Amino acid sequence: STNQSWGGRFSEPTDAFVARFTASVGFDQRLAHHDIQGSRAHATMLARVGVLTEDERDAILAGLDEVQAEIEAGTFEWSVDLEDVHMNIEARLTDKIGITGKKLHTGRSRNDQVATDIRLFLRDEIDTVAAELARLRQGLIALADREADTIMPGFTHLQTAQPVTFGHHLLAWQEMLARDHERLLDCRKRVNVLPLGAAALAGTTYPIDRHVTAELLGFDRPAENSLDAVSDRDFAIEFTAFASTLLMHLSRMSEELVLWTSAQFDFIDLPDRFCTGSSIMPQKKNPDVPELVRGKTGRVYGHLMGMLTLMKSQPLAYNKDNQEDKEPLFDAVTTVQDCLKAFADMVPAIEAKADSMREAARKGFSTATDLADYLVCRGVAFRDAHEIVGQSVAYGLREGKDLSDMSLEELRQFSDVIEQDVFEVLTLEGSVAARNHIGGTAPDQVRAAAQRAREALAAL
Ligand code: ARG
Repeated sequence: STNQSWGGRFSEPTDAFVARFTASVGFDQRLAHHDIQGSRAHATMLARVGVLTEDERDAILAGLDEVQAEIEAGTFEWSVDLEDVHMNIEARLTDKIGITGKKLHTGRSRNDQVATDIRLFLRDEIDTVAAELARLRQGLIALADREADTIMPGFTHLQTAQPVTFGHHLLAWQEMLARDHERLLDCRKRVNVLPLGAAALAGTTYPIDRHVTAELLGFDRPAENSLDAVSDRDFAIEFTAFASTLLMHLSRMSEELVLWTSAQFDFIDLPDRFCTGSSIMPQKKNPDVPELVRGKTGRVYGHLMGMLTLMKSQPLAYNKDNQEDKEPLFDAVTTVQDCLKAFADMVPAIEAKADSMREAARKGFSTATDLADYLVCRGVAFRDAHEIVGQSVAYGLREGKDLSDMSLEELRQFSDVIEQDVFEVLTLEGSVAARNHIGGTAPDQVRAAAQRAREALAAL
């Protein structure tokens, strides 16, 4: 026998490289707090059903408090020879309280223990992510409300399409995030299920009460099937899929922020504290924060693909492969939290350059569709109206004139149904105000949509 916790059937110690290769303590330390939380509940349940005495339970709980204090103080000595966070903590507990410490693992395996730890960890992290997401959404809604009347060009194919309000554009972002928020809260339901009691894979012979453990840990219910409980990691994949989708959205927003801060667009200003300079070009102010969010999106996609691939060929039940779930999950959690914080801090500080946006919207014939709609109202068929406006745009391109710069006589070359009132629809204000229905870009609609968004967020 060797001196490892499972050494009874072994005749030689683990090879030094193999010990290092198989150890996870270098990264799964991050689960220490939740490992202790799970152990507390397990010991409490074991005493409740008479497997441990109350004195034994009290000794374990007191010992775990001391271990936790050492970890928090940074004085805990993690040992690679003890492989992972679970055995490090259990060994230290036994150092402290003696033989009773060895009873903690009764009716439990590291397989259901680690699955429980990850779920407890992820549930807490999800709550942090949800709070940051709510903060970002609030910031977007407030900015959209403030910029409900600000006119900018709307784009398709990155070519000027029709005028929209800046508030409307910001609320489009907000809608993406509202769906991500729903996805996150839905994922949380499937995270919040208790593996403990599954033991190694088949359950345990002790008279455990999994409902007690579930309640102590705030889980909605015990996992239904022991084989599934120890081997399932789809909850972590689901979170990473959420994170990938959220970052895809943040990356799209980042791309627009980067474009808009350029001299060519000049739509917004980002405060200096979110930007950095160049070591060679003295004039530069670079939008590093959105660029980095855009860049970090890729690593989270990578984690999603990594975890899907990790799971795809695993036979039931637990396999050591699953130890590889932690680093990608941890990094996805950290990355998503950092990117959300960056955005939640930055969005309220965005300064819209309304004059510059307006000037851009005036170029590019953005009210051409409005002119076509005007002709339709005067009895022209839409396809013919499209052709007529196309000719006036071609004329404007030759003459270097926007539609609203043309005189009534110039416009009437193309259709004699055009009257003086055409200039009401050719203005940018007229164009956006006319799109006055739910989901439209009219300033009043934007203010109403912001109010609904605020209420939906508050109701979560
Ligand atoms: N460190 C392991 C993991 O992360 C804990 C479970 C190990 N269980 C086992 N029987 N080897 O998955």
